[in-house]
Amino acid sequence: MKTYYITTPIYYLNGDPHIGHTYTTVAADAMARYKKARGFDVKFLTGSDEHGQKVERAAAAAGVSPQEFVDNLAATFKGIWKLTDCEYDIYQRTTNPAHIESIKKLFKKLYDKGDIYKGSYEGLYCTPCETFFTARELVDGNCPDFGHKVETIREECYFFKMGKYQDALMKHFDENPDFLLPLSRRNEMINNFLKPGLDDLCVSRASFKWGIPVDFDPGHVIYVWIDALPNYISALGFLSDDDSQYKKYWPADLHLMSKEIVRFHSIIWPCILLALDEPLPKQVFGHGWLQYEGQKMAKSLGNVICPKALVAQYGADAIRYFLLREFTFGPDGNFTQNALITRYNADLANDLGNLLSRTVGMVEKYFGGTLPELSAEESAFDRELIDAATSMLEKVETRMDKLAFSEALNEIWNVVRRANKYIDETAPWVLAKDPSKQAELANVLYNLAETLRIIAIAIAPVMPNTPAIIREQLNITDSALSKWESAKKFGLLPRGIVVTKGAAAFPRIEKEK
Ligand code: ME8
Ligand code: MG
Repeated sequence: MKTYYITTPIYYLNGDPHIGHTYTTVAADAMARYKKARGFDVKFLTGSDEHGQKVERAAAAAGVSPQEFVDNLAATFKGIWKLTDCEYDIYQRTTNPAHIESIKKLFKKLYDKGDIYKGSYEGLYCTPCETFFTARELVDGNCPDFGHKVETIREECYFFKMGKYQDALMKHFDENPDFLLPLSRRNEMINNFLKPGLDDLCVSRASFKWGIPVDFDPGHVIYVWIDALPNYISALGFLSDDDSQYKKYWPADLHLMSKEIVRFHSIIWPCILLALDEPLPKQVFGHGWLQYEGQKMAKSLGNVICPKALVAQYGADAIRYFLLREFTFGPDGNFTQNALITRYNADLANDLGNLLSRTVGMVEKYFGGTLPELSAEESAFDRELIDAATSMLEKVETRMDKLAFSEALNEIWNVVRRANKYIDETAPWVLAKDPSKQAELANVLYNLAETLRIIAIAIAPVMPNTPAIIREQLNITDSALSKWESAKKFGLLPRGIVVTKGAAAFPRIEKEK
C-alpha cells in the first residue's frame, strides 16, 4: 500500500491555539482524510514544541513547573483538535522521552561527524531580558522591548556547519521544482538565502535550562530548531531500537506550515538531513497568514479568536469549510465574521442545506417517504445533472492533489448548485399534479438523491460530519455506497429508497447575532 506522511508544525506552547493554528491543522486533516479515502496508508503528525526560554519564563510567572505548564497547554491544543475533528495519528511533543533520546543521539552523531563544532557566538545581549538581538532589531541602540541597554557579549555555543551543504541543497532545489511551493516562496528562498550563501548556525545555548542537554557538555542545551525540526523523524523512531515506522513512512510527503517558518523547513531542515545522510521531505508547502478583521493576530493584541467559540456557534464542519473555501491556499487571507456568516448562509444553509431538505421533503410529500421503483426515459436535464455529478470527483482529485482546497470545494458546489437548478428546471411540483408523470417525478427525485450521495462522499475530507447527516436522511446504510470511487458512478443508490426528514443541517444565521 502506498504511504502518505503529512505534518503540521509542532506549535509553540506559549498561548492557546487560535484560528491560525486551526487553519494549518484543518488543511492537513483534510489532506489526510482525502488520501485515506483514496486508499493510502496515511500518517498525520501534529504536536507541540515545548522547550525554550519563553516556556521557562511563562511557567515561572504562572508559578508552575515548566513540565506542568506544557502538559496543560498540550491538553488544550488536543482539545481543540478534537473539537475541530482533526484526527492526527501522532501527537509529538518535544518533552516526550523518546524524542529527547533521539535528539541527543542525532546531535552526537553530527558532532562525531564534525558537522557540529564548538565555537563562540558574539551578539548584542540584553541582560534583564536575557535575549540576544541583532543590530537591526535595536530601537535607538537599545533593547526593542523595554529600552534596556544592550552589551556585546560572547557566549560559547555549538554551531552546525550549514554552509557545507549549500551546493547539495541548491542541486536539490534545481532537480525538484516541487520541493518548495508555492513558487513565490521557492524563489524567495533561492534568491534571498541559498544564493547569498548559508552561514553556520548556532544550535546550543548556555543561558537557560529548559531544553535537551548536550550529553557530552551538560552546561549547554540544544537550541530550538535542532530540537524541533527532527520531531518529524523522532516520532517515527529515528535512531531508536525500532525504526520500522521511519523506514516505512520517511521521507514525508508533505510538511505544511505558514510562510514565516518556510526557511527553517526548506533550508535548515534539509541541511540537517543531508548531514545525517537521510532523504529529504518530498514537499514543503508554506501557506499565507490569516489576519483577523484586517489585523495581524497576536496574543498581545488581544484579537486572537478562539476556535472553541466558533465551533460552538457554527459547528466544526462549517468552520472547516469556511477556512478551506474562503481563502486561496498560498496567499494571505483576512478572516472576518461577516465573510463567515455570508458564506455559511449562501453555501451551506442555502445551497447544500436546501438541496437536502427539498429532496427529502419532496419524497415525503409526493410519495409518503418511499420512492416508487419507477423509471422514465432520461431527459436532457437528467443527462446534464448526471454528467456533472459523475465527472466531479476527478476534478476534485486534481485540485486536492495540488492543495487547491478552495477550487476543489468549488467543483463540488458547482454540482450542488446544478442540482438546485435541476429542481427548478424539472419542476417536480408540476409533475406531481399529473398522474401520467409519476415515473418522471420518481426519476427526478432519484437523481437528486443519487447526486446527494455523490456529494456526501466528495465533501467528507473537509466536512467529516455532514455526510452522516445526508446518509441518515437518505437512509444509506451500505458502506459500499460511501466509498470514494463509488462517487464516479451514477445509479448505485437502490431505487425505492426510504427517506426520513431530519433537522436542518445548516440553520440560517442572522447577521445581527
Ligand atoms: O513556529 N495564519 O510554532 P508556532 C496562518 N514551534 N497560520 C498561522 C497563523 C496565522 N495567523 N499563526 C500561526 C512554531 N499559524 C514552531 C514550529 S516546527 C518543527 C516548529 C500556524 O506556534 C502556521 O502553520 O509559532 C505557522 O507556521 C505555525 O502556526 C506557527 O506556529
Ligand atoms: Mg511563530
